Amino acid sequence: MAEYMTPFTTMINLNTGVIPNAVVVQKRYLRDLEGLFADSIAEDALMIDNPLLYEVHEATENPMEEGQLRYSTTTIYPGKVGDEYFFTKGHYHAIGNRAELYMGLAGDGYLLLMSPDGEINVQHMTPGAMSYVPPFWAHRTINVGKENFVFFACYPSDAGYDYQSIADKGFAQIVVEQDGKPALVSNPKWVK
Ligand code: PA5
Ligand code: NI
Repeated sequence: MAEYMTPFTTMINLNTGVIPNAVVVQKRYLRDLEGLFADSIAEDALMIDNPLLYEVHEATENPMEEGQLRYSTTTIYPGKVGDEYFFTKGHYHAIGNRAELYMGLAGDGYLLLMSPDGEINVQHMTPGAMSYVPPFWAHRTINVGKENFVFFACYPSDAGYDYQSIADKGFAQIVVEQDGKPALVSNPKWVK
């Protein structure tokens, strides 16, 4: 007889993103993103407080094998480093052809994407927005609002994370506040 995995259900708080029985809760502070913000002087100044930028609640520990899915929620707190809004580290998937689906739950955010040849794409995420991360695109989320920005993510279990490419080269563009609104500008630190 074949062994079949047992189906299950997980509860997610749609306002806060909290998953009460999350198997992993990751907290990322400014120090964990050292060097990623464009304004190094503002980053150094804020490092004294080392604020919490975001939390990830992972709902599942499904096996990292082809065919399985994992899912999580991310809560990015409001704030800026200089003019640049708080964001996630950002990554390519280690297995590049793995796609991902995001859904906005609360707040106001941007999904910043970059293809391997440096093309930039931005999606505005508000509650109910289903934003698709196609295979091969690097992705980072940004809180451009004044409240917490919360979203749900679902991805193939074996996708993995390539953070190093973003740590080394960054994104070609960044999102900053200009005249009280988010604006996309060139990243002075970008390495082509
Ligand atoms: O799977 C995803 O893309 C998300 O769940 C992210 O991992 C999460 O939003 C945190 O971002 P990062 O992994 O870039 O720190
Ligand atoms: Ni991802």
